Amino acid sequence: MINKCFEVRVLTLFPEMFPGPLSYSLAGKASEKNIWSLKTVNIRDYATDKHKTVDDEPYGGGPGMVMRPDILGKAFDKNNPNSKWKKIILTPRGKPLTQKMVKDISSKPGAVIVCGRYEGIDERFISSRSLEEVSIGDYVLSGGEPAALILIDSIVRLLSGTIGSSDSLIEESFENNLLEHPHYTRPYEWEGMKPPAVLLSGNHREIEKWRKNIALEDTKKRRPELLISEKK
Ligand code: ADE
Repeated sequence: MINKCFEVRVLTLFPEMFPGPLSYSLAGKASEKNIWSLKTVNIRDYATDKHKTVDDEPYGGGPGMVMRPDILGKAFDKNNPNSKWKKIILTPRGKPLTQKMVKDISSKPGAVIVCGRYEGIDERFISSRSLEEVSIGDYVLSGGEPAALILIDSIVRLLSGTIGSSDSLIEESFENNLLEHPHYTRPYEWEGMKPPAVLLSGNHREIEKWRKNIALEDTKKRRPELLISEKK
């Protein structure tokens, strides 16, 4: 059964960056099928002076500009439809995004996503509107927009109807705190390399065992912290 349309509202200074890559492939098709919908809100439309100013110098000094809480507050309040929606602000100071968080967001009716720019966002806006601060990794982007595109992509592929077979979601990386096993396809021999013999054995129990084992070995080698952390 297909769920109700998941609604995404993005508050940004660069609405023309959307839907961008989200109009292609799985997300693009899912949007055509009305599995999800996107509305962008230009934060600058809520500026009050003739120069449409949205930022100002930081109190205490320092480089760059800070996004003003009054402008953001107005843009948010006019576009915050429902208390059941997730309210997210993308910033490198946020909680690192995990598949568990993505699943939680995808179970809601929608999400409001605020994209930061400049050196930062006035803290009073973040705390007063109870926004969850989310980071997509320990590196700094020039703004939250590319992070929002990544976040939305990760949500949309979990919505019912986006991916043909839900089996592909069960086996993938980060399920059970493991990376996914490696994959092989035709040709049988390529540059002198063949796929592991077990995959051609037709013995499904052995194939399953091999995949679980290599997933565990690869996770130990590449991402040992996944095995000791709480369920992602
Ligand atoms: N904005 C700038 N850097 C970011 C990051 N790593 N994650 C989310 N938003 C950001």
